[in-house]
Amino acid sequence: MPGSALAWEVADGVALVTIDLKGEPVNKISRSVKDDFLATLEALERDRAVQAVAFFSGKPDTFIAGADIEEFVALTTAAEAERLSAEGQEMLERVARFPKPIAAGIHGTCLGGGLEFALACHYRVATDHPKTQLGLPEVQLGILPGAGGCQRLPRLIGVRAALDLILAGKTEPAQRAFRLGIVDELVHPAILRDVTLAAVKRMAGGWRPRRKRLGGVAGWLLDGNPLGRSVVFRTARKQVLKQTGGNYPAPLAALEAVEHGMKRGLGEGLKRESQLFGQLAVTDVSRKLVQIFFATTQLKKDLGVPNAPPPCEVRRLAIVGAGFMGSGIAGTAVLHAGVDVRLKDADLARVAKGLAAARDVIDERLKRRRMTKYEHARLVALLSGGDRYAGFGRADLVIEAVFEDLGVKQQVLREVESVTPEGAVFASNTSTIPIAKIAEASARPEQVIGMHFFSPVPRMPLLEVIPGARTAPQVISTAVAFGRRMGKTPVVVKDNPGFWINRILTPYMNEAGQLLQAGVAIDELDRLMVEWGFPVGPITLLDEVGLDVAEKVAGVMHDAFGERFAPAPAFAGMVKDGRLGRKAGKGFYRYARGKKGAVDSAVYQLIGTEPDGGVRPAEIIQRLVLVMLNEAARALGDGIVRSPRDGDVAAIFGFGFPPFRGGPLRHADDLGAPRVVGELERLAERFGTRFAPCEVLQAQASRGSKFYS
Ligand code: 3HC
Repeated sequence: MPGSALAWEVADGVALVTIDLKGEPVNKISRSVKDDFLATLEALERDRAVQAVAFFSGKPDTFIAGADIEEFVALTTAAEAERLSAEGQEMLERVARFPKPIAAGIHGTCLGGGLEFALACHYRVATDHPKTQLGLPEVQLGILPGAGGCQRLPRLIGVRAALDLILAGKTEPAQRAFRLGIVDELVHPAILRDVTLAAVKRMAGGWRPRRKRLGGVAGWLLDGNPLGRSVVFRTARKQVLKQTGGNYPAPLAALEAVEHGMKRGLGEGLKRESQLFGQLAVTDVSRKLVQIFFATTQLKKDLGVPNAPPPCEVRRLAIVGAGFMGSGIAGTAVLHAGVDVRLKDADLARVAKGLAAARDVIDERLKRRRMTKYEHARLVALLSGGDRYAGFGRADLVIEAVFEDLGVKQQVLREVESVTPEGAVFASNTSTIPIAKIAEASARPEQVIGMHFFSPVPRMPLLEVIPGARTAPQVISTAVAFGRRMGKTPVVVKDNPGFWINRILTPYMNEAGQLLQAGVAIDELDRLMVEWGFPVGPITLLDEVGLDVAEKVAGVMHDAFGERFAPAPAFAGMVKDGRLGRKAGKGFYRYARGKKGAVDSAVYQLIGTEPDGGVRPAEIIQRLVLVMLNEAARALGDGIVRSPRDGDVAAIFGFGFPPFRGGPLRHADDLGAPRVVGELERLAERFGTRFAPCEVLQAQASRGSKFYS
């Protein structure tokens, strides 16, 4: 069919169908692709020469990436979205009931509607290639699997396993999908076609795959009967409510769609699924999450400078400083980028400890069965270390993660430059010291840049990349590209105290201190901000970061920006009292054997207050949120981030600004500048100039403009 996304040929009774959306990087299912599918199925059903059908993708790295996201975000009513979902379901029902056997030969990402298509096929073969990933990520876009996924997956692999995938929007590598029973066969890419064709031919001859019930007796007790299933649903509901705090409607709706279908049968389940899909697709939460998806997709292609020169290839990484940060960077670099890593510290004991910690990062993957023993052994062999600069002579990139002190960092820089090749990039993992200052000690300042990782490195997705005044464009693109290879989302920020994250986080933390001083209880502060959508509250965050680290950052910010950043007196006695937070076993909360306990009430004495419930919850939230929005707007005006997109993505990935609110700048847009400015002015009258609205917001309020058009 000319212009069709699907093409097919028949050989030996089997129609081999290839889906390949011309001019698109990935296959996605839009209305017109659905029509192509229906027309193809029609023709295949009629064609007597066809006894069986096998579907493959013509794309190198994707099978099908799901429904076309741009199509459903363009819909404005729940009824339209419900219809879209119902049409998808009908098309896949047609596949499921097709009178001739249909198999999917899956190589590359198979997500959302793509996996729903594969689930409707009668047999699934997947390649064991790392690019082959299967999952239903819909809830991450604020919707649910709306083309039968909430019905077919639990019927195939059991309710518990299906909920585990659907409710978290998880993507699984092919090996795990095979173990779960999502795919029937796992093969090397070279034989995908032959194995799929052979399977479907066997099916045409009457053979049927026998899928065994997974999970044994325990699995049957929970999954295999209505009583057990009701326990599974109840437990899952509790867990979802705990995890989402009621802020994300999609997982609960997905749970309802699965439960409804398991109780009332496939047809009723599909109906409920499409109704719920319709309702979710037009929610503000879904719109925000889709905006974040497109923002991060754009960022993936952004090398951080206009007309960026191609990045230099990094094959060997060297790291100075084998502490918590250095070892975290080492482990993450080996795991994701697969490069040789050389770790250096002042003495061998520290190096050994650092190497062990880096190895833990890789071991964790093996324990969770996310890699094979062979892969694990190969990656572990890439790690080495020493107390000298041996091995640095071949490094393409050196990251220093030593003590946060200008003199120490400059000394390391000089030493590194004396042992590395001319072209090597030197990156400092500083959180506060200007890169330009560090680069003053450099003989080749154009090779010096900042790469600010967040702690703990293996888990935190953000990387701030900070070019100094003289950093060469290719060094920027190299740092960005390598950060991406490490699995991070790099955002280029201006070389200015606190960069972006500490710049907008410090006033928020200080305000939390002011509120404590005003008699707000520690746990109330945390609870309110968690309910507002943060993963942890500001006081827990302080304990996690470490009070000593926070104090240092606060001091730097105060020196740089003056009164507006005056540290909260409430925090002053904490460090002196040895209350450094979780790492010291005591902070605002108590910690026992690594577990966070209750608030340590002795802290109130230290602060000199008693919680008295004097400040209303709404005011607590208003002060904490607006002080951050105001600083974010000001920092954007100062050019700290290049765009609102970068600022919002960084805040979400850097410290968990609630994704369903879209980021601080998007949230300011939602509130509207006139309202934000008005509220800030009233707060400034009561509490002082730290709340004075910044020029950017004032200009927006008077012009009626926004950050996003
Ligand atoms: N819809 C629309 N566009 C999509 C898309 C989709 N499902 N998946 C990818 N794209 C676009 C991207 O926006 C990007 O567009 P651009 O080149 O114009 O910027 C292009 O395809 C290439 O994508 P990436 O740059 O992200 O390519 P990668 O190779 O890095 O990643 C991917 C590929 C893993 C498939 C990633 O794009 C991805 O995660 N896509 C979204 C998957 C998803 O969420 N699917 C569920 C969709 S909702 C659904 O199916 C509903 C159903 O239940 C009814």
